[in-house]
Amino acid sequence: MANRLVIQGGKKLSGTVTIDGAKNSAVALIPAAIMADSEVVLEGLPNISDVQTLYQIIGELGGSVRYDENQAIIDPSEIVDMPLPNGNVKKLRASYYLMGALLGKFKKAVVGLPGGCYLGPRPIDQHIKGFEALGATVTNEQGAIYLRAEKLRGARIYLDVVSVGATINIMLAAVLAEGKTVIENAAKEPEIIDVATLLNNMGANIKGAGTDTIRIQGVEKLSGCRHAIIPDRIEAGTYMIIAAAAGDGVKIQNVIPDHLEGITAKLSEMGVPIEVADDSICVGEAEHLSKVDVKTYAYPGFATDLQQPMTALLTQAEGSGIVTDTVYSDRFKQIAELERMGGKFKQNGRSVVIYGKTPLKGTKVTATDLRAGAALIIAGLVAEGTTEILEIEHIERGYGNIVEKLTALGADIRKESDEPSIS
Ligand code: EPZ
Repeated sequence: MANRLVIQGGKKLSGTVTIDGAKNSAVALIPAAIMADSEVVLEGLPNISDVQTLYQIIGELGGSVRYDENQAIIDPSEIVDMPLPNGNVKKLRASYYLMGALLGKFKKAVVGLPGGCYLGPRPIDQHIKGFEALGATVTNEQGAIYLRAEKLRGARIYLDVVSVGATINIMLAAVLAEGKTVIENAAKEPEIIDVATLLNNMGANIKGAGTDTIRIQGVEKLSGCRHAIIPDRIEAGTYMIIAAAAGDGVKIQNVIPDHLEGITAKLSEMGVPIEVADDSICVGEAEHLSKVDVKTYAYPGFATDLQQPMTALLTQAEGSGIVTDTVYSDRFKQIAELERMGGKFKQNGRSVVIYGKTPLKGTKVTATDLRAGAALIIAGLVAEGTTEILEIEHIERGYGNIVEKLTALGADIRKESDEPSIS
């Protein structure tokens, strides 16, 4: 059954939106939790399909998950080293964290190569380099990665590319290895600190998460604990952009403002009034939006995940802004769709020029990936007429309760399904 979002544009948004727990933490915290020998309670996980898929995978491995809207209780005590060459692991990119978690716990794992958004080539060579340095043999057999080790021994690993996934995956494999591991040129994203905090609460010994050198002293076992997830800086940034595009006073609460410095600076530069409090940010209405140039980098640089929503906002700014993605080579699939709505762009490799200000018109468009979907929602909210967004399963992988949240802010948005016809 195909679902779509239908948006009637032109409504002014106002009010308060509460941000969920971070998707990119959640998808690593859940695999980390299976390494414990007793129950791990994770508070504040987002209500998104990637998280649901991981719960199902835990069931396939013999573990159990009990959850409500506030917390998930993961019981890993019965988990076995079941091979996962196919099936649910293909539905999300972050299933690669099962490689590090299962390798660390059982010294062997079989995990199908991950799915997720197409953003250009997304190799996992740095993850594999790390596993091999720790003593694992890694082979790719018919699209599944086989990992085996007699034992894992700490090692010094220099990442050739700053990678969130490789940093977390090596951390997962190293916490139960013998001796000391040092990860150099590590990624510094807040999600990495969140995963290290959970692992340390489980009994691991990790120092330096959030800096470019992480030191891990292996321990013998990990035990259950309780952990509250950090708020989702990308969901928060998306709502800030939505508020800048279509709002006249929106409060975004449950945020860590330090994690949002890049987007806060860029929106201020565009002329958007922003007030930052301890755990909330208010985004006012700009008299007019000025163009900005945006270049994405690894954290603390401007997040690649917010680059696509920014291209939609920049269609409403005066002048020509340039957005450059230095992290991914092909993350501009939203541009062709925004063009169909009247946006004017010129793409050249990793950069796109957005010619503003252009009126947008609602039409039928496709969410080719998660953040492209967010860009189309922003465009639909400011467009004249009705926008229909197809393939919204991409959006549902990363934005919990988005229809409810936008409706509460005053948007005219609904989800429709093509029911199978009965004849
Ligand atoms: C994480 O992906 C996020 N996903 C992405 O979020 C995010 O865009 C990205 O980090 C960058 O911040 C999850 O956390 C599940 P990387 P990840 O490894 O870990 C190259 C979203 O929209 N690279 O930091 O897969 C890679 O190709 C998603 O929420 C290698 O060359 O990203 C890319 O160019 C999409 N070899 C760069 O490094 C490797 O072994 C950064 O990738 C690994 C990565």
